[in-house]
Amino acid sequence: MLCANIAVNGEGRLTFAGQDTTLLAQKFGTPLYLLDEDRIRENCRAYTQAFSRLFPAGSKVLYASKANAFRRIYGIVQEEGLGVDVVSGGEIYTAKAAGFDLKNAYFHGNNKTDDEICLAMDCGVGTFVVDGEDELSAVAAEAARRGIRQKILLRITPGIDPHTYEAVATGKVDSKFGVAIETGQAAELTKAALALPSVELYGFHCHVGSQVFGEDVFERGVAVMLEFMAEMREKLGFTAAALDLGGGFGVRYDEGDPLLDVGRKLESVSAVLHETCARLGYPVPAFLMEPGRAIVADAGLTLYTVGSVERITGYKNYVSVDGGMTDNPRYALYGALHTVLPAGKMNEARLLRCDVVGKCCESGDVIRPAADLPESTSRGDLLAVCTTGAYNYSMASNYNRVPRPPIVLLSGGRATLAVRRETPEDLIQFDQ
Ligand code: LLP
Repeated sequence: MLCANIAVNGEGRLTFAGQDTTLLAQKFGTPLYLLDEDRIRENCRAYTQAFSRLFPAGSKVLYASKANAFRRIYGIVQEEGLGVDVVSGGEIYTAKAAGFDLKNAYFHGNNKTDDEICLAMDCGVGTFVVDGEDELSAVAAEAARRGIRQKILLRITPGIDPHTYEAVATGKVDSKFGVAIETGQAAELTKAALALPSVELYGFHCHVGSQVFGEDVFERGVAVMLEFMAEMREKLGFTAAALDLGGGFGVRYDEGDPLLDVGRKLESVSAVLHETCARLGYPVPAFLMEPGRAIVADAGLTLYTVGSVERITGYKNYVSVDGGMTDNPRYALYGALHTVLPAGKMNEARLLRCDVVGKCCESGDVIRPAADLPESTSRGDLLAVCTTGAYNYSMASNYNRVPRPPIVLLSGGRATLAVRRETPEDLIQFDQ
């Protein structure tokens, strides 16, 4: 199975986090997002335990909450000792409503509005990850107006191609994020930040990309960043206290995807960090990472009910479900291949090759092309789509005025509603 939280019970039904998915679907309805809270905590611990072993004091794991943001999740990651990466006023507001201590929040984004900068400062967001010159001026001006010294990191593009899909490759020189080392702009921004009394430059950030498996992508990221940091020390006399390497560790969506061992990967990153620092004579900085997907992806599973099976003789077959690109746009956007399982018929042979599609009025509404399901698949059957904990709910929409599904948290055999199902009344609440 893709992940240890997926199994089959004596009745040939899929279980998730030890619970019968058929019973969960009966209780909460479909489409339904399930989130295995125990798995989220295990994933957090894979990072925190490796961090305490491998990186110096002051190092911290931040959950990139864009992967899945709702009130309860901020509490869970805080209990596990993580900070958070937030990217909008909405995420800041949600974290605050959850009682998250925002001094452990890092505020990202390539275009923070004035309102968001003020909200973040009102809420005491600990660190801003400044994306460029315009933002540096805006943050410094607001901090000066308030008479505070705002802690910041500068976002740098190290010029590394992570070999993932284009939409999530963010560390290349021509990225819309950050300032490039190659063009000299990163050095200029550092100089500008050091000259501003209302900001405290804590260190540097980079994020090479997402869903990355490449052998040495993160290691090269560390080396390039440290070379840059050493250069800044030499040229500007500034020694950075922190290096934030962003997120990006890949997860398995399909049996064929590699399995990335977080502990081992971090060992290798730590080795490069320590070796490069030794070579450059640079004090080992506090090390930060911002995993999103690796914390929540395999903790998620979506349940759907089949509505129709259409066989176009001599061409292809379609199995339509009661959700679609509105709750999981990842195939439509990236061609991402999620595994589909016949949740109620796990022991049947899977001889029906079909595209599993959603209910939206457009052909691009595909959940998974060329899935293999039982020949007997028919209206009313339950399907499970795996590894949907990251970038599903957080990217869900109301296209076609389809209400978004609820999120049910599973832990220790209990199932708790964390986000309720949207209703038709919710859909018209903003209409005047
Ligand atoms: N830090 C920064 C600055 C980021 O931009 C991101 C992701 C992360 C951390 C977390 O990366 P992760 O560990 O989750 O790979 N919607 C796309 C993914 C977009 C990722 C954007 N940035 C998807 O569904 O694959």
